[in-house]
Amino acid sequence: MAGPGVRGAPARWLGIGLWGLFLLRGCLSLEVSVGKATTIYAVNGTEILLPCTFSSCIGFENLRFWWSYNSSDTFKILIDGTVKNEKSDPKVKLRDEERITLVGSTKEKMNNISILLRDLEFSDTGKYTCHVRNPREYYLEHQATIFLQVVDKLEVVDNTLMRIILAVVGGVIGLLIFVLLLKKLITFILKKTQEKKKECLVSSSGNDNTENGLPGSKAEEKPPTKV
Ligand SMILES: *[C@@H]1O[C@H](CO)[C@@H](O)[C@H](O)[C@H]1NC(C)=O
Ligand SMILES: *[C@@H]1O[C@H](CO)[C@@H](O)[C@H](O)[C@H]1NC(C)=O
Ligand SMILES: *[C@@H]1O[C@H](CO)[C@@H](O)[C@H](O)[C@H]1NC(C)=O
Repeated sequence: MAGPGVRGAPARWLGIGLWGLFLLRGCLSLEVSVGKATTIYAVNGTEILLPCTFSSCIGFENLRFWWSYNSSDTFKILIDGTVKNEKSDPKVKLRDEERITLVGSTKEKMNNISILLRDLEFSDTGKYTCHVRNPREYYLEHQATIFLQVVDKLEVVDNTLMRIILAVVGGVIGLLIFVLLLKKLITFILKKTQEKKKECLVSSSGNDNTENGLPGSKAEEKPPTKV
C-alpha cells in the first residue's frame, strides 16, 4: 500500500505543476497593448488618440489603470482610475489636465482604456505609458509605451517614409537589373571564350595528340547554339 502511494505522489505533483505552467503561459498574464505603431506623429493644435487595450482571460475585478507621461525633464501621472468588473465602464479618479479624456470602454470585453489628447502643444512630445494592475494576478503590473511626437506638419514625416520606401524599391529593382546584366555579360564572355577555345582546338587538332579534347568540345558547342 505504501509503495503505490509514494510513487503516486510525484506524479500528482507533476500534474499540478504542469497545470500551473499551463495557467501561467496561457491564462494568468494580462496583456497590455498600444497597437502596432511605437511612434505616433501629430500636428500641434489638433487632437490625438493614444490607444491602449488589455486582455485578460481570467477576468478582473477592481482593476487599476493609469497613464503616465515621461520626457527628458518631466514625469507625471496623466490619468488614474479603476474598473470595477467586466460589466462596468472605467471610473476616472484623477486627471492631470482638461485636455485629456478617457475615451475607451471596458464593457463587453472591449477592454479599451485609450485616451484623447486635445489642443496638442509641442511640449506634449514624449513617452506615454499605459499601465494596468489586476488584483486577480497578485497585483502584477503590465504596461505598454507609445511615443508621441508633436510636429507642425505631417508631410515631412510622410515624405521621409516615402523616400525610404522608394529608395528600397529602387535599390531592389536596380540590383535585379544589375544581376540580369551581369548574367548576360558572363554568358557572353563564356560563349566568346568557348568559341576561342574551339578555334584553338580545331587549329591544334590538325597537328597533334589532343584527341581527347575534341569530343568534349563538340558536346559543349551545342548548348550555346540553342540559346
Ligand atoms: C503649429 O505651430 C506652427 C509653428 O509654430 C504655427 O505656425 C501654427 O499656427 C501652429 N498650428 C496650430 C493649429 O496651432
Ligand atoms: C523616463 O525616461 C528616462 C529615459 O527615457 C528614464 O531614464 C527614466 O527612468 C524614466 N522615468 C520614469 C519615472 O519612468
Ligand atoms: C478604443 O476606443 C476608441 C474610442 O472609442 C476607438 O477610437 C478605438 O478604435 C478603440 N480601440 C480599439 C482597439 O478598439
